[in-house]
Amino acid sequence: MSLLSEINIDQLPNHIAIIMDGNGRWAKSKGLLRNIGHQNGAKTVKEVVETCAKINVKYLTLYAFSTENWNRPKLEVELLMKLLISSLKKEVETLQKNNIKLSTIGNLNSLPTIVAKELKDVIEKTKDNNRLTLTLALSYGSREELIKTIKEISLKVKNNLISPENIDKSVINNHLYDHYLPDVDLLIRTSGEQRISNFLLWEIAYAELFFSDILWPDFNKENLFEAILNYQNRERRFGKTSDQLK
Ligand code: IPE
Ligand code: IPE
Ligand code: MG
Repeated sequence: MSLLSEINIDQLPNHIAIIMDGNGRWAKSKGLLRNIGHQNGAKTVKEVVETCAKINVKYLTLYAFSTENWNRPKLEVELLMKLLISSLKKEVETLQKNNIKLSTIGNLNSLPTIVAKELKDVIEKTKDNNRLTLTLALSYGSREELIKTIKEISLKVKNNLISPENIDKSVINNHLYDHYLPDVDLLIRTSGEQRISNFLLWEIAYAELFFSDILWPDFNKENLFEAILNYQNRERRFGKTSDQLK
């Protein structure tokens, strides 16, 4: 029986973020090239995205390529970019059918022009969808994002457009790559690694963390339900005491 029946649909995490890790090890364990791992990882992306839309999660953010991933072998980076283009072309219909809006965070200027063009195209086509917002973190690094934010705000202070006393959470939020991205409720990382790898440092301040040993290409909707169930059995106190929450 599916774990879905145990999930409280009224208490879903509003924003799930996933560090999709383990494609390379999955391929290696089968004697295959790393790229085959990435191709199979793309199938998991489809299953997880469709499932989130189906159960009505509002925001799903996937870490697809970090600023540090540019340091991988040139061929692997090229094949990842090609996979991204082909997946976008192939899945635009899925996004439309499921009423999913595509968004991105990251330094899009550093992506190859054809990737940026394809992304813009799909973002434009899906801009009015409102069931689920799917955000792909591409050429994304949280520290780079915070540096960008600090530079932009400093410039506004210098030009007397804002005074330092007025800098608060919302001012910072407004200068991140995506102004509308809410705080993360549940952060999942697959593959057994227990680190953040420069992902959404600002937005995960109070996220519940869930680490799964499963390699990303093997991760499926039941594993997602398991993470959500685990999340629903936690008490989020936000600094308060347990008694105060009652
Ligand atoms: C995640 O899988 C995909 C990306 C980072 C692009 P990896 O490629 O990091 O897989 P492992 O960690 O080497 O197994
Ligand atoms: C994090 O995975 C980045 C993505 C999932 C896109 P990595 O595999 O690059 O992370 P590290 O290097 O093991 O921390
Ligand atoms: Mg990895």
